[in-house]
Amino acid sequence: MKILILNGPNLNLLGIREPEIYGKMTYAELCRMITAYCDGKNIRCNILQSNHEGELVDMIQAAPGSYDAIIINAAAYTHTSIAIADALRAVDLPAAEVHLTDIDKREEYRRVSYLRDACVGCFYGKGVASYTEAIDFLFKYHSK
Ligand code: DQA
Repeated sequence: MKILILNGPNLNLLGIREPEIYGKMTYAELCRMITAYCDGKNIRCNILQSNHEGELVDMIQAAPGSYDAIIINAAAYTHTSIAIADALRAVDLPAAEVHLTDIDKREEYRRVSYLRDACVGCFYGKGVASYTEAIDFLFKYHSK
């Protein structure tokens, strides 16, 4: 199985960015932990990051044929982007939405997710474990 893992704006600044909210783990460390987890399960993954909405749409559109599933942390675009939600619906791949923090327990404007309905599973508030739980979920989903 091969999973495309997409990270949206400002996630490249993990470790520097609001550490009291997102912790001290850097983006490179996050990627290493996800990759090690996938390696241990014999799952192939490709982790990409972009600060640009259209680029994330392009990455989703290019996924069919190369990947079996998508994990997306669209960061702030979660709460604004009908384009990313439409792209997830447009491709015939199961997708899981992840967030490091629990967006349902933060500011009111973060409680809205345009992606939720376009995804087969959502994993919030567990830091890197949000990603590893999404990996396990999509692995089981794919084996069904
Ligand atoms: C985030 C939550 C979003 O609301 C925020 O804009 C982010 C990170 C998270 O992983 O907790 O940039 O997606």
